[in-house]
Amino acid sequence: GWISPSLYQYQGLWVAPKLLNGILACQEHFRAQETDVLLITAPKSGTTWLKAILFCLPNRAKYSGSMQQHPLLTQSPHDLVPFLELKLYFGQEIPNLTSLPPPRLFATHLPYQSLPQSVKDSGCKLVYLCRNPKDTFVSLWHFANKLRSKTTSGIPLAECLDAFCRGVSPFGPYWDHVQGYYKASLEMPERVQFLRYEDMIEDPQVHVKRLADFLGCPFGEQELRDGTVDGIVRMCSFDSMSMLEVNKSGKLSTGQETESYFRKGEVGDWVNYMSVEMGERVDRVVQEKMDGSGLKL
Ligand code: PPS
Repeated sequence: GWISPSLYQYQGLWVAPKLLNGILACQEHFRAQETDVLLITAPKSGTTWLKAILFCLPNRAKYSGSMQQHPLLTQSPHDLVPFLELKLYFGQEIPNLTSLPPPRLFATHLPYQSLPQSVKDSGCKLVYLCRNPKDTFVSLWHFANKLRSKTTSGIPLAECLDAFCRGVSPFGPYWDHVQGYYKASLEMPERVQFLRYEDMIEDPQVHVKRLADFLGCPFGEQELRDGTVDGIVRMCSFDSMSMLEVNKSGKLSTGQETESYFRKGEVGDWVNYMSVEMGERVDRVVQEKMDGSGLKL
């Protein structure tokens, strides 16, 4: 399975055995370039959304006059901004990525301590997105059950939650993942942008603008007046994206159904699945583990 009870620990992170090869290959062979942009998340933190936004930013001039041609209307964000370990380095063959035009956009779920060395040396930019642990967990639980539902019965939520609270979640422990990048963003703010899903939901415009600045493609006066920012926010919104045929009934090259990346896209949905006690337990565990980091989730 993709989630507990069959995860194994490697370099302090928990993974399903079938993902290990991709991680090793990516660590050994990926050569980051200074102009690269890496989107990093713990699973179910809003990766699909931020992939779409990141794709829009450096590419916006290309499609400004022809929105109907925009790749996001017909391709999944997961195909436009591929995962290193889950897609590019997943198969037997080592991909040749040197001829991709800059800025190359990639995504990864790897925790900071497991990033390929060249990512740290290259000076490339890292965008990290985190989400509150309870919603991340509930989203993960739904996704894991979706992956299993065709062949086996679902995993009880309580069992899954126990594992999560012991740190056993894909690419987890969750708190180490978040903390690793939070520290990096404090040490290297010009290289690491640390974002929260809840903040982005609250004010997507501000964050889209901030991201453009961070990536070195700030919006010009004209764009700020003509609704370019709103256009990107709208195009990448849960409502627009989940309506598209490609995201409703498509399949990724990895075989995954695109529909499983769009469930609700809301803040606070955990209350519909967890008891108050369960919620408090997650908060307590996460807070305990993060104590001293200055980060509150
Ligand atoms: S993955 O497998 O890690 O790439 O999944 P990820 O995309 O990180 O997480 C999926 C959750 O993100 C929600 N989602 C969105 N939220 C806001 N805006 C947009 N456009 C969007 N697209 C996907 C998706 O619904 C999952 O959250 P839940 O809470 O399960 O709905």
